[in-house]
Amino acid sequence: MDKILVIDFGGQYNQLIARRIRELGVYAEIKPYDKITVAQIKSEGYIGVVFTGGPNSVYDEKSPHYDPEILSQGVPILGICYGHQLITFMAGGKVVSAGASGEYGKIPVYVEKDILFDGVPEKSVCWMSHNDYVGEVPSGFTVTARTDKCPVAAFKDEKRKIYGVQFHPEVTHTEYGKTVLKNFVFGVCGAKADWKIGNFVEESIEKYRAKLSGKKVLLALSGGVDSSVAAALLSRAIGKDLVCVFVDHGLLRKNEGDFVEETFRGKFDMNLIRVNAEDRFLSKLKGVTEPEKKRKIIGEEFIRVFEEEAKKIGKVDYLVQGTIYPDIVESGRGDASTIKSHHNVGGLPDVIDFREIIEPLRYLFKDEVRAAGEKLGLPRELVWRQPFPGPGLAVRIIGEVTKEKLDTLRDADAIFREELEKAKVNSNQYFAVFTDTKSVGVMGDARTYGVTIALRAVTTDDFMTADWTRIPFDVLEKASGRITGEVKGVNRVVYDITSKPPATVEWE
Ligand code: XMP
Repeated sequence: MDKILVIDFGGQYNQLIARRIRELGVYAEIKPYDKITVAQIKSEGYIGVVFTGGPNSVYDEKSPHYDPEILSQGVPILGICYGHQLITFMAGGKVVSAGASGEYGKIPVYVEKDILFDGVPEKSVCWMSHNDYVGEVPSGFTVTARTDKCPVAAFKDEKRKIYGVQFHPEVTHTEYGKTVLKNFVFGVCGAKADWKIGNFVEESIEKYRAKLSGKKVLLALSGGVDSSVAAALLSRAIGKDLVCVFVDHGLLRKNEGDFVEETFRGKFDMNLIRVNAEDRFLSKLKGVTEPEKKRKIIGEEFIRVFEEEAKKIGKVDYLVQGTIYPDIVESGRGDASTIKSHHNVGGLPDVIDFREIIEPLRYLFKDEVRAAGEKLGLPRELVWRQPFPGPGLAVRIIGEVTKEKLDTLRDADAIFREELEKAKVNSNQYFAVFTDTKSVGVMGDARTYGVTIALRAVTTDDFMTADWTRIPFDVLEKASGRITGEVKGVNRVVYDITSKPPATVEWE
């Protein structure tokens, strides 16, 4: 399989570069600049290299640099933003500060005829975010694009197949960004489009069947997308050699535990242990109102329950984790072969006796994990499930968690989700919250004193910031009417219109 290496110099869009290349059907990996040498690039057979953007100036003492040997290896290179300036610096050109006239945002760019700009009109809009620019091109390079302020918006050394662009082709604001990446990957690097999720799934099944058959393999199934896809994949590979422990803490949404169990027992005939630990969790949470304390108790209890189940199984050979590629990139592991356990399910490896951790999804982005899930035959509702916090509904009940409150919340939440889905409202996460407010109402001729349910729906790309979703009033009206009418004890419904920041998505 052809693969492209994205060398990470600390820019904010670096994962996007790899994702865009993979969307073109070519496998791309991201490695921090100090975790991969020129010799490794050659020996591992990368057919092209992308230098990413980054926040630094190439002349800063602390700025990340790279071995100039890379320029003479015959491996095609595309430098983006900081990467473009770094090539200039390494090859002997000059980078200058634009002072007050840096370019930020959508900027018109004028391109020359070039392999990199095949299919790009002479003038188009690109996304720029830079203060420094290339003032003097290194010898052997020619300028291939300009803006009104930036004399070298792109350059090339055709002989050495080295290209640089000051703008960001990976972001959607760059009108022809995808075309530029496509031209680099196929036109310059000569890649074949042979990265397909179906092949990944088939190859992984074969690989794990060979490695793990006859061994005892343990997986903590949460019902979330990642652990579910990992479970489905390994189940297809090794059948009943895989033991999945699903700790149902009683804090899941309506019918969720049964749905997970039915999916994996029914569709996958899996060796599944469902631990119904609701009573245990509720007794630990009795009287606890402080949000962080609740989270801590749930996290610890989860490990205790899992540990007890694992002890019953005895020594296992392998422990599976649903780590995905962004976890690896963000934790700076870069080198995919060093296995550490920072991104595990609440520190499980410390309490289980096992030989090795298996992370079958460690090379996949979230959208690829979902595509793999679909290929493996997981239901769409599971694969496209919205995020759900580990501590579950406990962080959506303000104050003490009780069985009664949980049941009320589950019913209200199910109605809200159903109405939003029926109306096809576009929202990334939506749920109900059991507030600790009671208020006076009237039903028939009688006074009521009931619970207030809050509805929350957010629109976001990354959950780091979020806006509240503009749900049409008639949908809110329907949800509110149904919740007060159908859920006992609820006489008031409010909609949360706060963005993040200053609020968070969850209420606790
Ligand atoms: P906040 O509330 O921090 O939530 O704005 C951002 C996203 O993270 C989810 N979330 C959690 N996920 N364990 C998780 O696995 C947690 O403890 C947790 N807390 C929040 C939240 O649902 C939202 O998608």
